[in-house]
Formats: sequence, C-alpha cells, structure tokens
Amino acid sequence: MTSTHAFWLAGRQATGEDSFDVTNPWDGRLVATVAVPTEAQVEEAVAAAHAVREEFAATPAHVRAAALDHVVRRLTERTEEIAQLISAENGKPVKWARGEVGRAVSVFRFAAEEARRFNGGEAQRLDTDAGGTGRLALTRRFPRGPVLGIAPFNFPLNLSAHKVAPAIAVGAPIILKPAPATPVSSLILGELLAETDLPAGSWSVLTVPNDRMPALVQDERLPVISFTGSGPVGYAIMESVPRKHCTLELGGNGAAVVLADWSSEEDLDRAASRIATFSNYQGGQSCISVQRVIADASVYDRLVPKITAAVEALVTGDPSDAATDVGPLVSEDAARRVESWVEEAVAAGATLHTGGTRDAATYAPTVLTDLPATTTLAHEEVFGPVLYVRRVDGEAEAFAAVNDSKYGLQAGVFTHDLETAFRAHRALEVGGVVIGDVPSYRADQMPYGGAKQSGVGREGVRYAMDDYTYERVLVLTGLAL
Ligand code: SIN
Repeated sequence: MTSTHAFWLAGRQATGEDSFDVTNPWDGRLVATVAVPTEAQVEEAVAAAHAVREEFAATPAHVRAAALDHVVRRLTERTEEIAQLISAENGKPVKWARGEVGRAVSVFRFAAEEARRFNGGEAQRLDTDAGGTGRLALTRRFPRGPVLGIAPFNFPLNLSAHKVAPAIAVGAPIILKPAPATPVSSLILGELLAETDLPAGSWSVLTVPNDRMPALVQDERLPVISFTGSGPVGYAIMESVPRKHCTLELGGNGAAVVLADWSSEEDLDRAASRIATFSNYQGGQSCISVQRVIADASVYDRLVPKITAAVEALVTGDPSDAATDVGPLVSEDAARRVESWVEEAVAAGATLHTGGTRDAATYAPTVLTDLPATTTLAHEEVFGPVLYVRRVDGEAEAFAAVNDSKYGLQAGVFTHDLETAFRAHRALEVGGVVIGDVPSYRADQMPYGGAKQSGVGREGVRYAMDDYTYERVLVLTGLAL
C-alpha cells in the first residue's frame, strides 16, 4: 500500500518542494509519502479561506447539506479501503478502524441534518418597555470566520470529521492540519470533499509540519482554532493567541467507578469486560480510555481477578488481522514512555497483575493495583494500555477519588441506582458522566469536552456549530406586533 499523496490547497491537489514518509507502527513498512506545502502555498490557502468567507457563509443550506450528504455516501462506499488505511498509518486494529469510519459517517450525517435546521432564528418582542414599542429582535448565528482545525493521530479520520463537518454545516471555511503521523485519512477526506460543489477556498487540508504551525496559529485571518491533542500544546496555542476563539479537546485519565450495588457475578463480569476492552482499545490511545478503576471495597476482591482475566483474554498483535484487539502504539517512543511509567510505578511499590512488557511499539495490556499516589501514572494521562484499580469505601470516597485529578473529561459509574446516578452527575467534575458503563462511551452528536485541564469548549456536531458561530441580533423597528 505505497502511494504519494498530494495535499489539498483551496480544494485542489498540490505538491510542494518537500515530502515526508508515513510508516506503519506495527512493522515499519511505508504507508505513504506525503507532500509538504511551501510557505507560499500555506499563504495561498489562508488567503483563499479569508476571501471566500462571506460567499461561503451565504451559501444556501441545501448546498452545504448536499455536500455533507455526498461525504456520507462516499465514506460509506469506501469504508473498507479507508479502514485499512487508518489501521496502516495509525496501527489501530482494523476492527476499531472500521468503527471509526462508521462514526465519521455519523458525524457527516448529523452535520447534514443540522445544516438544514440550523439558524432559523429566534424572534423576541422588545415592547416589554415603552422604549421598545413596535420593535422586534431577530437573533441568528453567523460564522466567526475561517477555522484552523488541528487534528490528532488517535482518531485520524473521525476527529478530523469533527472539525470539518460542523464548519461546512455553518458555512465557515476550514483549514485542516492533520497529525504528522497520520495524515492519509484526512487527505482521503479531501478526495471526497473535492467531489462536491463547495466553493474553492472553503476547505484545505494542509500537511504543515508542527514546527511551522506557530505562524499559522498567529494568522489573524483564521480567528477560530479547534485543537485536539496534548494539554501543553493546546494551552501554548491558546496562550499565544488570547484574542482568538479556541476550542481545546485535551487529555484525560478516565475513571470507571464500580459501586457496591453493582455486585452480582453478572454485573462484575460485565464491568470487567467493558473496563478491559476500553482500557486497551486503540492501545489505550483515547482521551476517554479507562486508566483508573475505582472499586468499592465490597466488590474489589472479586473485581480485580475478573479484570485481569478479561485483559489477558484480549488478542494483541497485527492490527490488520480482524481478530486483533490491541495493536501497537503510534510509535516505539510512545511505547517506551508507557514502559518507563509502569517501571516507575512497580519500583515505587505497585502490584503488577498482568502485562508490563514491551515489544517494539507494542505494549502489553497491563493491570496494576496499590499504585502510590506519588507516581507519574497516578496523576498524568498514560495514553497507553494500562489501568490501575483503587479500593475505596463508599460512594463519597469514590466520587472524591474521581475528582482527585487535574483532568475532567468523562467518568463512568457502574450503579443500578437512579438517585446515585443523579448524585454522580452533580458531584463529578467532568464533561460527561456515563452510568452503567465505562467513561469511553461517546456518541458523536452529544456534547464532548472537558472540565478542568481536559479542555475548553465542546465538540459534538451541533455544539461545534455553536462554537464556530456567534449570535447577531437584528432589531426591527416600527412594527405592528
Ligand atoms: C478522544 O480521544 O478525545 C476522542 C475519543 C472518541 O472520539 O471516542
């Protein structure tokens, strides 16, 4: 599967003077050689986005919705090919890559639907005071301007879709910058967009190297930045452009709480199975994968062996094999970092139940208990296939343990009790609470984003559409209301 990919400059293919290789993290084989835009080409794309902004904002909803519908159809038709590409460039097992394409289809479908009903406007009578007699306010939303979307490697198609589809839905031009490790999925998305009638300049996919991004981030013609990635990079971006509108989707160290009422054999088997799967899907490289299991003392002793057995039952290996559950991490460096954190934890006194080994970029799914609070693993996001179980006494201690983190993306609470569910919703300092399941559940239409250091703003198609736009009021005078 070797090919050379152009990037997309204002809706057309282009190549620059330079290129870089994308390799498969599993076996190091070349997946693609990708062209790098020159500074002049980046300038051309930004100028085109700026120039088309008014025309694109005024494009009829049916035109934007038809383009989004087209992407839905073509992604569906090309699912298998694109899933194989995601798996090859990212190392994600192909079964998860197929799921990712399915989710991207949903994102574009939601965007097409929302594009049709967005911005009908809200009327408000103003004659509630004498000065407003005969006046009506009509509030509609308009794009803030062109968006710079910066996508991560872990869901290279779907998290690009979450940046691009809402932009098209509201008529905001977008420049998408994929992760250097996984640009091919975004470039394929460009192929599908190029088949539509969207105006030239309304979208570009630019494979700009990270070290050249500060200039693009600073460009005043791109007033909106939507970034998904690490906290240090996200906050550095936001702090470098305090007057821009930034959405940051950052990290998390997802907690799954198992409370005392979730205690039958069947309950604990289900919790163990979900925890094992979603600590290790995509090698744990998801911001909402399970890193922390917080188990009530009354279920802890039965739960730990069940989790360990469920983790050991996962098939680790070649991501192109349909039977594989856990593939490599995105790079050998990433696996070495995870290895060093686990080694530090074990040296500090943590108990290793399974895993703890590395083979090139693949890190074995790992279960720990008795983790000292001083270790890196206890307070940073591991972004690898590692979980630890902590014993707590009762609901209040469990919820306090969830909140004992600088992150707050999502939390899962295994309970059957509705009142507990509502207490969790109130108490947990996170962007989403999932009852009866792991924190890793995400439906692409629901608001998604963090509290605390997990980010700023929300994705989820409709929520990103709100984020890319602002309210503008039209006051009408002299009306017979
Ligand atoms: C993320 O890693 O933040 C995205 C998780 C998802 O979309 O499921």
